[in-house]
Amino acid sequence: MSTDNPSPNPFRSARVLILSLTATIVVLALAFVGLAITRSGQPAAAVSGEKVNVLENSDNNCVTCHRQSTPGIVEQYGHSTMAAADVTCENCHVVAADYPGAIEHEGVYVLHEPTTAMCQSCHQAEVAQYNQSRHGLPSYVAYAGEEALTDEQLVAYHNIPEGGANPEASKARNALHALEGEAITKFACETCHDVGKPAADGSVGQCSKCHLRHEFSLEQARKPETCNNCHIGPDHPQWEIYQESPHGIAYATGGDRWHWDAEPGTLDATDFPAPTCATCHFSGFGASSTTHDSGDRLTWYLASPISDRRPAWQDNQVRMQSVCQECHNDNFVTQFYTDADAATEAVNAFVRQSDEMMQPLVDNQLLTDAPFDEPIDYTYFELWHHWGRTAKFGVWMQGADYVQWHGAYEILSDLAELREMIDEKLVKAGLPPVDGE
Ligand code: HEC
Ligand code: HEC
Ligand code: HEC
Ligand code: HEC
Ligand code: HEC
Ligand code: HEC
Ligand code: HEC
Ligand code: HEC
Repeated sequence: MSTDNPSPNPFRSARVLILSLTATIVVLALAFVGLAITRSGQPAAAVSGEKVNVLENSDNNCVTCHRQSTPGIVEQYGHSTMAAADVTCENCHVVAADYPGAIEHEGVYVLHEPTTAMCQSCHQAEVAQYNQSRHGLPSYVAYAGEEALTDEQLVAYHNIPEGGANPEASKARNALHALEGEAITKFACETCHDVGKPAADGSVGQCSKCHLRHEFSLEQARKPETCNNCHIGPDHPQWEIYQESPHGIAYATGGDRWHWDAEPGTLDATDFPAPTCATCHFSGFGASSTTHDSGDRLTWYLASPISDRRPAWQDNQVRMQSVCQECHNDNFVTQFYTDADAATEAVNAFVRQSDEMMQPLVDNQLLTDAPFDEPIDYTYFELWHHWGRTAKFGVWMQGADYVQWHGAYEILSDLAELREMIDEKLVKAGLPPVDGE
């Protein structure tokens, strides 16, 4: 007979009994603790991973009074990482009496809207990168024109390496700004382009366009909806394109499980199995470090009528490709860039064709001097400004429908329409039509 015959063993049974009793006690104890936590309400937040309100017992002057006047602000700020790091209301709001924009308030002077100069005292790198980017002064100049800048700002603007692309094309849109008038543009151009507006103290930009006060939450800044405030619509539909891309689909279907609050600078595919706008353009991801220079990883001026290469575009390309390479292999990424470069050149060729078709009208002074006063101005403009750009953005950010039906197809349709409009003008002036031999 073997000794390991499964005969009932009194010691073993006793052990099992003790173990299961212990387990029961542990489970019961846990249930009691759980009950107690939920009852008292407070640690329940900690259990679900939420941050605690560090201002709950604060006796700071601003906090105690604003708990009454603006409880929402105190509540939001209390849960932020900055409050936990002892950054106070005063750090952002309180300035000297003679500071530009200062308002007298409860015995001190405050800014209603803290400027980037306030953030700069603690976030030098972010502010410097932002000032070097097209989210800075170029965004503002795009509608206000260079004449709106002070001499100092003008120098800064001209020193932005990727700042000065296509001044001619910008003039066309400045013209729209003038035609529509201040009553409209305050709610249009300016809402988006003030991301680069100078403040009264001369510092540039509005961090709060992406970092909604007072939570200053990484999760909020990293989510693509933050960008869709501005990157949307027929002329720059990056949001719509992202939604139909495999990356956007991964976000929409699984994003609730991603590590939205992960430590900046060290993100990888375990935090984000697919990229958001921020991952590709801003986040420290894989071998690329975090940046607030939106142009840091771009190779083309895609928004231009005819896209040219950016200065130092090869370095930028390495930085973007390092992001892709966290999830895709080298050959895939290199092949993708080869194909997307070719598609960009193909759109350039369509736009050049529209320019060549227009040339006889320019040569024979058959266009009015005023911008946007006849239908042909709009057709010519939309060809590159809406459909040309959209096709290029669709290519680079994986939006097939935008490359095709909102892009290349619309270009072809506008080329046909343009040809008819041009011929009509030429024939009326006694000249041969564009296609006429
Ligand atoms: C005794 C109460 C009290 C104290 C102390 C106080 N505030 Fe206020 N604060 C208010 C009230 C009330 C308002 C709202 C005024 C309104 O709605 O028009 C306000 C408005 C503000 C505004 C908006 C100003 C504007 O004109 O739009 C800011 C910014 C502000 N407070 C910041 C602070 C800061 C920073 C501190 C600490 C240095 C502080 N407050 C201290 C009561 C207080
Ligand atoms: C990290 C910087 C920062 C800190 C810290 C901060 N604020 Fe602000 N606050 C801002 C910014 C930026 C705005 C303006 C946002 C905008 O409208 O563009 C603002 C706006 C406000 C306003 C005006 C809101 C309105 O809609 O009129 C009040 C009031 C205010 N803050 C109070 C506080 C109080 C009270 C604290 C501390 C509990 C605090 N802030 C801490 C950055 C900060
Ligand atoms: C007095 C110094 C100080 C000022 C002023 C300041 N910050 Fe901060 N900020 C910090 C510190 C410290 C942290 C780091 C908190 C941490 O990671 O523990 C931080 C973190 C942040 C974060 C990351 C939040 C996170 O969850 O990791 C953002 C975004 C941010 N700040 C934006 C701003 C903006 C925008 C302004 C100006 C409106 C500003 N800060 C002004 C000190 C400051
Ligand atoms: C919904 C937000 C939004 C509105 C409204 C808007 N823009 Fe823009 N604009 C953008 C974005 C985003 C870009 C960047 C496009 C890109 O790079 O893909 C841009 C690009 C531009 C550019 C090209 C960049 C440059 O510096 O050459 C000009 C010029 C411009 N806009 C002018 C205007 C004018 C003028 C108006 C109003 C008549 C206007 N925009 C309305 C968001 C907007
Ligand atoms: C166009 C949107 C945008 C604007 C405008 C913007 N940020 Fe950010 N910021 C982001 C994003 C996205 C992240 C998160 C990057 C990541 O994934 O780690 C971020 C992160 C940060 C962080 C945390 C970075 C770190 O490495 O710990 C700070 C601090 C910060 N921003 C400060 C600022 C300041 C100051 C300004 C204004 C000068 C500003 N941001 C303007 C999008 C923006
Ligand atoms: C408040 C409006 C606004 C928000 C929010 C915004 N942008 Fe922009 N963005 C602009 C404007 C305006 C431009 C065009 C500036 C120009 O070319 O003159 C631009 C340009 C860009 C560019 C092209 C930069 C270049 O060098 O040509 C990139 C990339 C970009 N944004 C990414 C983002 C991302 C990613 C987010 C979200 C994290 C974001 N933006 C949020 C307004 C915005
Ligand atoms: C998979 C990475 C990826 C994602 C996700 C992504 N982009 Fe891009 N984006 C690119 C690449 C690559 C380019 C073209 C780069 C070049 O010029 O070499 C680009 C170009 C752009 C441009 C054009 C700049 C110009 O030259 O006019 C803007 C603006 C932009 N992206 C904004 C966004 C926004 C907003 C989102 C989210 C809605 C987003 N991107 C999502 C990779 C990405
Ligand atoms: C964080 C991971 C991650 C990053 C970073 C990333 N991708 Fe992707 N990508 C994915 C995933 C996941 C898919 C969906 C794959 C599938 O269809 O199963 C995908 C799909 C694609 C596709 C479509 C492939 C197909 O077969 O339809 C292209 C093209 C693409 N990515 C290009 C890029 C480029 C270019 C970059 C960098 C600018 C980039 N990706 C960055 C994860 C990533």
